[in-house]
Amino acid sequence: MKIIIINGPNLNLLGKRETDIYGSSTFQSFFDELKLKFPSIELSYYQSNIEGELIDKLHEVGYSYDGVVLNAAAYTHTSVGIADAVAGIETPVVEVHISNTYSRESFRHTSFLAPNAKGVIIGFGLQSYELALSSFL
Ligand code: DQA
Repeated sequence: MKIIIINGPNLNLLGKRETDIYGSSTFQSFFDELKLKFPSIELSYYQSNIEGELIDKLHEVGYSYDGVVLNAAAYTHTSVGIADAVAGIETPVVEVHISNTYSRESFRHTSFLAPNAKGVIIGFGLQSYELALSSFL
């Protein structure tokens, strides 16, 4: 089973960005642990701060992978382009968020992606990614 985790803008700063909200581990160290926890999954990881690159990656994997775990970060709340890509590809997409976006500013309460996602996991810290991966097993 082939699954990719795709992270959007500013998530390259995990571990040093607003650690009270996002925690203090880097995504790379978490990802290394995740690979050990899910040995049956062929797991890959992609991060970009650029909207079009995220769309290109969804197109690239969207007809051959078994699943996408997508944290589009701020683009979740703004991007019709990423929403259309999620709707257009065949691979199911699970939307994740580290923080509980509903307990934060109201502009974070809207997701353009959620209507076309297979499901949404919000607010469990980095464990949100783990829960999303489990949903594919
Ligand atoms: C986030 C929540 C978004 O509102 C924010 O812009 C992010 C991260 C999360 O994982 O909690 O960058 O997607």
